[in-house]
Amino acid sequence: MCGIVGYIGTRKVVPILMEGLKRLEYRGYDSAGVVYFHDNKLIKHRAQGKLGNLERIIEDVLGVESHVGLGHTRWATHGAPTTENAHPHGDCNDDLVIVHNGIIENYQTLRSDLKKRGHIFRSETDTEVLAHLIEDHLDKDLVAAVRKALKKVKGSYAVGVLWKGQPDIIVAARNHSPLVIGIGNGDGTFLASDVPALLPYTRKVIFLEDKEIAVLSAEKWEVKNLDSGRKIKKQVQTITWDAGMAEKTGFKHFMLKEIYEQPQALLNTLRGRIDPQNGRIELPEIGLSEKYIKTLERIVLVACGTSWHAALVAKYWLEEWVGIPVEVDIGSEFRYRTLLLNNKVLTLSISQSGETADTLAGIKLASQLGSKVITICNVVGSTMTRQADATLYTHAGPEIGVASTKAFTSQLAALFLFASYLAQVRKTLPSNKIKQLGQAIIGLPTLLEENLPDLQKKIKAVAELFYDSRNFLFVGRGLNYPIALEGALKLKEISYIHAEGYAAGELKHGPIALIDKDMPILGLVPKDKVYEKSISNIEEIKARQGQLILIGSKGDRHLKKITEHVLYMPKAPSMMPELNPILFTIPAQLLAYEIATMRGCDVDQPRNLAKSVTVE
Ligand code: M6R
Repeated sequence: MCGIVGYIGTRKVVPILMEGLKRLEYRGYDSAGVVYFHDNKLIKHRAQGKLGNLERIIEDVLGVESHVGLGHTRWATHGAPTTENAHPHGDCNDDLVIVHNGIIENYQTLRSDLKKRGHIFRSETDTEVLAHLIEDHLDKDLVAAVRKALKKVKGSYAVGVLWKGQPDIIVAARNHSPLVIGIGNGDGTFLASDVPALLPYTRKVIFLEDKEIAVLSAEKWEVKNLDSGRKIKKQVQTITWDAGMAEKTGFKHFMLKEIYEQPQALLNTLRGRIDPQNGRIELPEIGLSEKYIKTLERIVLVACGTSWHAALVAKYWLEEWVGIPVEVDIGSEFRYRTLLLNNKVLTLSISQSGETADTLAGIKLASQLGSKVITICNVVGSTMTRQADATLYTHAGPEIGVASTKAFTSQLAALFLFASYLAQVRKTLPSNKIKQLGQAIIGLPTLLEENLPDLQKKIKAVAELFYDSRNFLFVGRGLNYPIALEGALKLKEISYIHAEGYAAGELKHGPIALIDKDMPILGLVPKDKVYEKSISNIEEIKARQGQLILIGSKGDRHLKKITEHVLYMPKAPSMMPELNPILFTIPAQLLAYEIATMRGCDVDQPRNLAKSVTVE
């Protein structure tokens, strides 16, 4: 939610800010703006809507001789997505400017107080309050003023501040919203909400923690505790992602690129975690002792959106292989219900970004109640990885498309390993079965790689028939029920078609009333242990003239008798139906992608959404 970028150094600043914003646009695209020093003045440019609008109005200043500036891309919370509400926001005379990601919860009280003291407001945002609040405390020292102002603030923030009185520094601070400093190669210092914005310039980064304030100059950086002002020694980390990973590399959309990257992402997540000799699973990074795993009584999975669907799949694996009760919760529900947790309950959070506010709040509570917390996360150094006791990284690489694709299948792979590992330690599966599971999942990336282009062609043909539908149902049973939910989420978020996912057996309890000859229903019917049951449900739909699209296992000729729209998936390696959720996700992703592009939707930046949801 909102992206911040900043630079101070020897390079020209505007192109750096624009490139950074491009790489952060996934965080919000309601408006964008930049500010830089020129001729001793702070020059602001802002535009409503996507970054392209800002690009058009700043064409002439790209080459301006300025070497200090800030940029922002907004996901609106307080105030409509207008130019007036676009960041950067200034104080009364625009001598001080700020960019902000987060929510100032007490902004109304602060605003009316500041108004009484004569401050003039020009936007409806909570952010503008910060600019005036800092102005109110400003004498000669920007850092001191920012510290004093932020002490009065309740809520979340990542901020970058510039002031005419000290044009040779950027002040940045964070509390519950991410912020990363990039250390240039002798050419300056960078600031960003997320690592992809820094990749063209540096891989040396410092992650700010909550209640830390940083002072950046062209040659150096310093981090202090916001409350005490005491200097903090920070660890410089080296990021292994390369700049190209955050580019489209010939694909029309990031989403399609990321769908095609799934074989590699899966491989990266699995690599080094399955012993090729004996098939044993090795997950030393989760730091759980055998004794702890053996005495564990329950596992609670917490996540949001697509990551929650991954958790739903994992419940099946964990309960079947480990024989341990598993609860799955949506972050925003978990944090507000009575939690029965203790040190015999392991909490596992799942998140691509590692910044999702509701999931973060959930694991904080879990820790307070004595539960150990492990996170499955894609973004190195993200808040969740620092809040959890340990992290099992998915190594999917940066995911830019707002619709999660490769992050989801990599989460499934990580969860598959995690469940097999617990079964190995608790000896709830024979070692031979664990070896087979490991070998099967290792075979999956190649199978996907070989089949993806052909699958896309076939899905495209189906999409052509159904792209103008107003509604869609997705059904599946067992392990594929969460995939039905995921298929429906993908379709609705990028094509704006109303879509619902159901457990196929649940249709008769209500949703079957929706079925008529105009309702397309995508059924996931692999050959697995609930196949016969699924087919009965599919027949019930057919009897009510629903338009069936079936995705089944190669060789299942029966499906052709039910409907002409059948897509066959290759059989999972070693014929392991346990792997079907990963395999059957791919056609659902491609269907959503093809339908959305046919409807002319902005696939990578669907309306009203942002990639990481850092607000409640
Ligand atoms: O970064 P996270 O995995 O925590 O994000 C959770 C959801 O916001 C995310 O999965 C969302 O549902 C995706 N846009 C779905 O494609």
